[in-house]
Amino acid sequence: MDKIAILDYGSQVTHLLATEVRRLNVYSEIVDSDSKAADLKSYKGIILSGGPYSVYEEGAPQVDPQIFDLGIPILGICYGHQLIVQHFKGEVASAEKGEYGKAYIKVVKSDGILSSFNPNDETQVWMSHRDTALSLPPEFEVLAETEDCPYAVLQNNEKKVYSIQFHLEVTHTERGREMLDNFLKITGASRDWTLENFLNTKIEEIRQEAADKNVFLLVSGGVDSTVAFALLEKAIGADRVYGLFVDTGFMRKNEVLEVETALKSIGITDLHVYNGKKRYIEALKGVHEPEKKRKIIGDLFLDIQDEVSKELQLNEDDWLLGQGTIYPDTIESGGTRHADKIKTHHNRVQRIEKLIEQGKIIEPIKDLYKDEVRQLGELLGLPHEMVHRHPFPGPALAVRILCTGQEDQPIDQSELKQINDVSADYNLKAHILPIQSVGVQGDSRTYKNACLLTGVYPGFALIAKLSTQLTNQFRTINRVLFAFKPTEISEVKLLKEKYLTEDRISLLQEADIKFTEILKSSQNYEKIWQSPVVLLPVSTNDSNEESLVLRPISSKEAMTADVYPLIDTVINDYIQKIGQLPLSGLFFDFTNKPPATIEWE
Ligand code: XMP
Repeated sequence: MDKIAILDYGSQVTHLLATEVRRLNVYSEIVDSDSKAADLKSYKGIILSGGPYSVYEEGAPQVDPQIFDLGIPILGICYGHQLIVQHFKGEVASAEKGEYGKAYIKVVKSDGILSSFNPNDETQVWMSHRDTALSLPPEFEVLAETEDCPYAVLQNNEKKVYSIQFHLEVTHTERGREMLDNFLKITGASRDWTLENFLNTKIEEIRQEAADKNVFLLVSGGVDSTVAFALLEKAIGADRVYGLFVDTGFMRKNEVLEVETALKSIGITDLHVYNGKKRYIEALKGVHEPEKKRKIIGDLFLDIQDEVSKELQLNEDDWLLGQGTIYPDTIESGGTRHADKIKTHHNRVQRIEKLIEQGKIIEPIKDLYKDEVRQLGELLGLPHEMVHRHPFPGPALAVRILCTGQEDQPIDQSELKQINDVSADYNLKAHILPIQSVGVQGDSRTYKNACLLTGVYPGFALIAKLSTQLTNQFRTINRVLFAFKPTEISEVKLLKEKYLTEDRISLLQEADIKFTEILKSSQNYEKIWQSPVVLLPVSTNDSNEESLVLRPISSKEAMTADVYPLIDTVINDYIQKIGQLPLSGLFFDFTNKPPATIEWE
């Protein structure tokens, strides 16, 4: 199968580039920007991605100059464009004016990646740069320009090098896919990347990779590991795959039964369920830090897997450990060189990394994106309902139940007055919650307090706008919530020593299933990517009752996410539904990703 390599310089949208190429039926792989020309010979085309650096800065990632002698078509985007201009002796420097957001290119010449355009065509593109090409490298010609950027699209047709200042991979670039399609035509790459082909090739690869070994697969109940399970069984047969579902006790209500039923419906009846509830509660006693929780949960999965394999007297040399890791999972846990570690993914704890190095792990869907995993699941015959369930993290509800120790949580009130001044324009009052959560800002992890707005609900659009304004303007917060209940709050009280206990878990399970029921009955479920319900150890009154956060979002691949505009009636129905549960506050998370991550921990 022909492949396109994408050299990753750390842009937030590199993965979108990879999916866009695949949507045009060519297989793409993201590779390290340090890759040597010799390692890239097998690709039909090379794309240099965007990135947060300046090419002239010391230590900025560069490109192996020999790739330009390979004769393979090359496309540079944003930072990649600047690398090309610099390499071919044009000048790159900080522009007088940066360009961020929409711009319009005017086509000067119809050729190369603009071969399907007409001269003088104008089309919207998406720019995000301060640096720019100040001079045209010799041997290059201009194909398009914008008002502020005379060298928006360049080419050296003889060397087959194409270079654009904007991002063609985002939807705001209206004819971006057409440009990419033109580049792929130049590469001559065969258009044979389809999931049907992937399935056939993968089955062969799994057979080779597993060779004479069997696979011990940890099934988490999510879509990914279920699809991985079905795929492995298809490839090497049910008798060689041992699927272990560790019930951590943090599952959603009815989760275990649903997964068993879905697998049974396609003839998989050998899922083994291990009841680990007591052990998980024990291991997490007195633990409240998010990353510590994640590590304990990930490690205990492995301990249990070790124990079960010993009990079954499985010889370590005859078995591989299988995981349903998918492509984006590896990026946020610092899986690529220029990406910061946002969270420790349960599939990437240190012990797993070691096993990967030793060749003892098999991850059959690690190159796929979620929408591709879903299609693959349908191809494998999994029921539509199962395949379209919302993604659910391996550590499950444990990362949606925030915990506290004996101490106060740090709370930075220094910007509260200014935040209130801005919120007052909307007749809202702001509180800084005495609890922190994980965010991702400027490609890095943050851990900050959430801001809670109270008052008369001014409508979705206004709060969404205010939320962006507040997180952009103030450094001490990374989330903005609105309180649907109660509507007036004098103080939000931190409840101390709240750990992962059975009563808290069942409280969240009840609140969670009721929200899912509402989403399904209001026809919102499949439009939403994911809808975490989060339990916060804070009270809005004198009681010790905790509060709940709803976080429905839309997304394409979980790397970025938008708050989902749930209509007010859904919220009111929900408030009624949970009326009997001991909860003091009901908040709605109005924060996109970035600046907040989807899960709070
Ligand atoms: P964040 O919270 O980083 O989440 O925006 C991105 C996506 O990843 C899921 N997630 C996980 N999935 N194991 C998983 O299988 C994990 O440890 C984990 N942590 C986050 C999250 O639900 C969202 O879909």
